[in-house]
Amino acid sequence: MNYGIKSGDAGKTKTSCLVTGVFSEGKLSPTASQLDKLSAGALSKQIKAYAFSGEVGQTQLLLDVPGIIAKQILIVGCGSEEKLNAEKFKKIYALAASALKKHAIADSVSTLIELKIGKLDEQKKLSLATQAQEDSFYTFDQFKEKPKKKKIEPKKHSYCASSNKSSKLGLAQGEAIASGIDLAKDLGNLPGNICNPTYLANEANKLSRQYKSIRTEVLSDAALKKLGLNSLLAVSQGSDQPAKLITMQYNGGKKGAKPEVLVGKGVTFDSGGISLKPGAGMDEMKYDMCGAASVFGTMKALAELALPINVVGIVPAVENMPSGSACRPGDIVKTMSGQTVEILNTDAEGRLILCDALTYAGKFKPAHVIDIATLTGACVIALGSHATAVYSNNEGLSDAIINAGKDSSDRGWPMPMWEEYQEQIKSPFADIANIGGRPAGSITAACFLSRFTQDYAWAHLDIAGTAWISGGNKKGGTGRPVAMLTQYLINVAAGK
Ligand code: BES
Ligand code: MN
Ligand code: ZN
Repeated sequence: MNYGIKSGDAGKTKTSCLVTGVFSEGKLSPTASQLDKLSAGALSKQIKAYAFSGEVGQTQLLLDVPGIIAKQILIVGCGSEEKLNAEKFKKIYALAASALKKHAIADSVSTLIELKIGKLDEQKKLSLATQAQEDSFYTFDQFKEKPKKKKIEPKKHSYCASSNKSSKLGLAQGEAIASGIDLAKDLGNLPGNICNPTYLANEANKLSRQYKSIRTEVLSDAALKKLGLNSLLAVSQGSDQPAKLITMQYNGGKKGAKPEVLVGKGVTFDSGGISLKPGAGMDEMKYDMCGAASVFGTMKALAELALPINVVGIVPAVENMPSGSACRPGDIVKTMSGQTVEILNTDAEGRLILCDALTYAGKFKPAHVIDIATLTGACVIALGSHATAVYSNNEGLSDAIINAGKDSSDRGWPMPMWEEYQEQIKSPFADIANIGGRPAGSITAACFLSRFTQDYAWAHLDIAGTAWISGGNKKGGTGRPVAMLTQYLINVAAGK
């Protein structure tokens, strides 16, 4: 869809459809009450006639409202005015967009940007609204013989907002983030037989063809062996698919300026290996590369916005399979860092590929390193699907990430990494064990990674609960945490 900004009087706006909000119990938003006056009460009469109570989830198209230039009005339930927040704001915009699509309304103007959402300024609201609308238009039907007959997507949407540089930037940021989210969803939704490590490497090469600012390098088995990424290779050795270590360098900042480094877990299918997972729901382990997908999506958004910083995206990509050549429980490997690991469970493979990728990240002399991984089922138990778990060895970095998540409605929540937890990953035979038992499973996984990130400021995002919607017919990638990461980089670029 094409987005724009229209400033001026809502009642006099020429459009097929004007979108406006109504709060709980029919309380009118500022624009709705203005339209009500212009129509001499016709608007509130219709609201009553439709028994429109204003809860989030309700939308109603109104025809023939007198005194107003727009052909139709779409009223959208906004719920309680006091309880409005970024999450509800996005939901409201997504619902409005679905209604516009359902009624095949090609062009529309919305006045919902006027809603007060905590501390969010107009720029952030425009970005969120755009992301929410694009999210609602997303489809993934490339594998259907006959894609569902699609209602045509609305062509043009304008926001009633001030037409200045800052709000135009908000729009651009929303569109860039939405395109990154789309890419991350697509990669997540692709099945393991197509989206394998080589596919991800090709995707990185595609990005560097699309954007001159991105340079891609792909390392394969022999090079990885030479560099000593034995832990990563141990995970991959049971698969017929060769491992790839993908590096995308975005240079938008000063030459020599320290880069932000993003490292994304790219297990293109996680069967568990010899510690085989149970069969039920195993298909969902195609999403075990959503950390990688979020790095691709963020690199894309970043390049679209041409942010004046340097960023490196690193994706260790492997497939975790059982076979005669697979690694076994009890195997000991020497990581790139020199530390040895006893692989007690081959299903705790994410940390085994990330530890080497994190050591490799050190060679870029990073300002900060953030890894993103669908790392533990325990994280889903702890936080469900509403927040990404945020671990860090640096409070400033952790705060910056969590604040970026607040602003972009892609929430993170801080988790502890106290020394005492390290006890759980001791091994009698090697320097570290790759599992720490059932208690605090997400935390001990983070503790494992912390052994490899002593030389720089680092944060770990466990996205096992947030990266996809699980089960049933609604399953699919969410594109999280592309919004959080891109907002973080936008803030870094702005020197915040
Ligand atoms: N990819 C999984 C984590 C996961 C589980 C993500 C469920 C999303 C939903 C990871 O590789 C894994 O298998 N972790 C194990 C670790 C355990 C063996 C210590 C887990 O969480 O059960
Ligand atoms: Mn696993
Ligand atoms: Zn995994």
